[in-house]
Amino acid sequence: MLEKINQTAEYLRQRVGGEMPRIAIILGTGLGPLVDSIENKVFIPYSEIPNFPVSTVEGHSGNLIFGILGGKPVIAMQGRFHYYEGYDMKTVTFPVRVFKALGVEILFVSNASGGMNKEFAVGEVMTITDHINLFPEHPLRGRNYNELGTRFPAMTYAYDRELMAMADAIAEEKGIRLMHGVYVGVTGPTFETPAEYEYYRIIGGDCVGMSTVPEVIVANHAGMRVYGISVITDLGGKDVTQVPTHEEVQQAAVIAQPKCLTIMEELVARVKL
Ligand code: HPA
Repeated sequence: MLEKINQTAEYLRQRVGGEMPRIAIILGTGLGPLVDSIENKVFIPYSEIPNFPVSTVEGHSGNLIFGILGGKPVIAMQGRFHYYEGYDMKTVTFPVRVFKALGVEILFVSNASGGMNKEFAVGEVMTITDHINLFPEHPLRGRNYNELGTRFPAMTYAYDRELMAMADAIAEEKGIRLMHGVYVGVTGPTFETPAEYEYYRIIGGDCVGMSTVPEVIVANHAGMRVYGISVITDLGGKDVTQVPTHEEVQQAAVIAQPKCLTIMEELVARVKL
């Protein structure tokens, strides 16, 4: 695995040249259009990157984008790898390991989720303050490579407090209602039954989604600081009769996009490396 990571990192270093970014962004739902704000873009299709898997989901194109955002070099992942697509966890999290090998110190992630917190509305955005990992496979299971991180990493501050506070300050300045909450990570690809939404609420979740947790675990293992934002695209619970669809999720994401973009762009511009 180490050899693969280094091979991919070396390929990217040679292909892109220049200073390697210390910030990586996974453009999930809500952040797609962030690409337009990146300057001096170099697009590298996943299909051209050695050892990279290829993304399969509608609405997620597969490119690594190197460029400048908020005056800083960044790498953006346009399209992520979901566990429900059939990839194992080592594959889902491979890009994060490559980012680390390139020198990335901060990971920004976004996603879509279904809200269980009754105070949430569709189209709202939430800082992920913590997560509950309900994926059946752990990305760090198996041999630990000490070069990559410690055997038993703490997850106490899986989401960086300082970045969270910065996001709050930005939201306040810009008049964005930014919620806080716990993201429950599940495999999907089914949306939840009403009883399941209820159950995820009872165990401490505010929203539930099918991504992010594996990447955040591996980023923490690698010693990166993480900020995550979730777009509430539908609501779930025993009293909710609306049926969630992929289209509805995409539409709600469009409503939330400007808010996500503002927060992420400003975070990148303001963060000290
Ligand atoms: N459940 C799980 N994943 C999701 C949801 C949901 O309701 N909405 C968007 N992604």
